[in-house]
Amino acid sequence: MRIKELLKSNAAIGTKVEVKGWVRTKRGNKNINFVALNDGSTIHTIQAVIDASAFPEDLMKQVTTGACIAVKGILVQSPGKEQSIEIQAEGLVVYGSANPDTYPLQKKGHSLEFLREIAHLRPRTNTFGAVLRIRHALAFAIHKYFNDNGFFYLHTPIITGSDAEGAGEMFRVTTLDAKNPPLLGDGSVNFSEDFFGKQTNLTVSGQLEGELGALALSRIYTFGPTFRAENSNTPRHLAEFWMIEPEMAFYEIKDNMDLAEDFLKYLIRYALDNCRDDLEFLRKMYDEELIARLSFILENRFERITYTKAVEDLEKSGENFEFPVKWGVDLQTEHERYLVEKFYAKPVIVTDYPKAIKAFYMKQNEDGRTVRGMDVLFPKIGEIIGGSQREEDYEKLKMRIRELQLPEKDLWWYLETRLFGTAPHSGFGLGFERLVLFVTGMGNIRDVIPFPRAPKNAEF
Ligand code: 4AD
Ligand code: MG
Repeated sequence: MRIKELLKSNAAIGTKVEVKGWVRTKRGNKNINFVALNDGSTIHTIQAVIDASAFPEDLMKQVTTGACIAVKGILVQSPGKEQSIEIQAEGLVVYGSANPDTYPLQKKGHSLEFLREIAHLRPRTNTFGAVLRIRHALAFAIHKYFNDNGFFYLHTPIITGSDAEGAGEMFRVTTLDAKNPPLLGDGSVNFSEDFFGKQTNLTVSGQLEGELGALALSRIYTFGPTFRAENSNTPRHLAEFWMIEPEMAFYEIKDNMDLAEDFLKYLIRYALDNCRDDLEFLRKMYDEELIARLSFILENRFERITYTKAVEDLEKSGENFEFPVKWGVDLQTEHERYLVEKFYAKPVIVTDYPKAIKAFYMKQNEDGRTVRGMDVLFPKIGEIIGGSQREEDYEKLKMRIRELQLPEKDLWWYLETRLFGTAPHSGFGLGFERLVLFVTGMGNIRDVIPFPRAPKNAEF
């Protein structure tokens, strides 16, 4: 029986049960041992009471923190204050011992930095158990939300020949010999001899292919890994992260904002309703304000302002920002957090950014200098969602691609959707780890993904 089910079922008192899991702690004396067992199904442990004289000494010695064991026994009411039920052990199997001198996860008090170095074992801690269960619940809720709302899950490619964001932050995919690649007459690499017959890279976003889906199925979403070769060593950036990208035909920017707000609130409510024990644990351990902050999102309508207004607010603030603001500069996390945490004191959606700082595909406004982009800003996180209404006009889109000197020939298929049955459409990208970061209240994005990928870091 999984421990979660066992703890729920008081009816099982007096019955024979068997549980399997990893020893968190062992207390007691020569005669009687109290073993706290966890199998990852819940933050809670079940206590096994083991009468040492009933088992061989050698076997009992192997029951130490970190060991994997199976306990058979009778489920009884516990006299202890900490738990209501426990197992009176009758059978004991040790699957794997864990030498106390070398097992790195002794009782408690390891720093998160240290745990990153032992990412192969950190899922066995209370903290990472909680984070990983919440991460799972959110992933499930994402699929449920879209399925319930008539969106189709579209699988966009991981290997692509285009740069969806036009920012050049891509990891190359190649089978060419790095030491001795085939060359063209001018000395440059001849990619026509590469595996795909052209230059390819890991995708930075599924959006462009997502748009192709939306212009046929009306509403789609992607949910997959994306890759950015940007050298950002921050608590909010990963080189490999998961992104959720809905794309909707017949949605304008306002509909896009409504969806983003409803979606985020749904996910946060889902976590509050389904991950209470884990959230309570994280609140107690790391962040007293956690649950209050999550509820706060549900209770407030997101403030919606233009970029121009945001810059005015920031200029008026009198704050001494590290990066000074003026119209035309990209907003930094410190600006975003000021708007959300101090100025408006609620989540903010900023729209209509200068076209020069946003991607080529965003719908151009009449003013000739802004585009219909939107960023959703959250407390502690800054940007959690980035999206836009898309430019659906063939000529305008082509002009913009040329202005930015993007490889037009690689985007022929994208442009062609604007020639045949084009439609107003919009979409956005939610960074999954930024969402998990917000919901768990953790401070570093590397602690909300099992095996983080960051500059100079691809262990495990
Ligand atoms: O703002 P971004 O770059 O937008 C896009 O990629 C669009 N194609 C999305 C769309 O409209 N379909 O990224 C979207 C979100 C950001 O708001 C952020 O939450 C997250 O992805 N993100 C990252 N998360 C972790 N590490 C990184 N390096 C990230 N870069 C972006
Ligand atoms: Mg962005």
